[in-house]
Amino acid sequence: MTGLVKFAGGFAIAAMIAAMPLVAGAAEDPKDVIDYREHIMKTLDAQTAALGMIVSTQVTDENLVAHTEAIAITAKQALASFKLNVPGGESKPEVWKNWPDFEKRMNEFVEKTDKLAKSAKTGGVPVVMEQMVDALTCKGCHDVYREKK
Ligand code: HEC
Repeated sequence: MTGLVKFAGGFAIAAMIAAMPLVAGAAEDPKDVIDYREHIMKTLDAQTAALGMIVSTQVTDENLVAHTEAIAITAKQALASFKLNVPGGESKPEVWKNWPDFEKRMNEFVEKTDKLAKSAKTGGVPVVMEQMVDALTCKGCHDVYREKK
């Protein structure tokens, strides 16, 4: 445990571990629930931006597959982060009022990004360019469920 402090941010990590509840699944702090889903969304944002730089030929395409895989994995993490009905952040209350629709959109997002990652492996940049608009349903969901602040 003492080794942790050698890393940048080690104090924060140690503090988090110290704050861990003894019982797994103990009530989650609303602020943590919101922070968690926002971290996942920010990851999607960064990976999508990186992918955009590749398809617009600003940078090398060496990581094309890795970025599409990162987006597919992060998409899979997103749904669970919204399961607790905790209003706040930029989420509209409709996320939980219309949960079946929200869940359906998330599941479609998972399926499509999974397909995009597979296409990237076989078809490279041209196929990703063809499929990315359909696969990255970010705006469609945000228009309905995200409060722009
Ligand atoms: C099925 C719905 C859905 C999909 C798909 C989705 N998002 Fe989101 N996103 C949300 C919701 C809801 C919020 C508000 C979260 C909060 O702050 O409580 C959000 C918030 C965000 C935020 C703000 C995070 C912050 O720090 O406040 C970013 C950035 C973001 N999304 C990017 C993306 C990107 C990029 C994609 C696609 C690659 C994507 N999202 C796909 C629903 C979605």
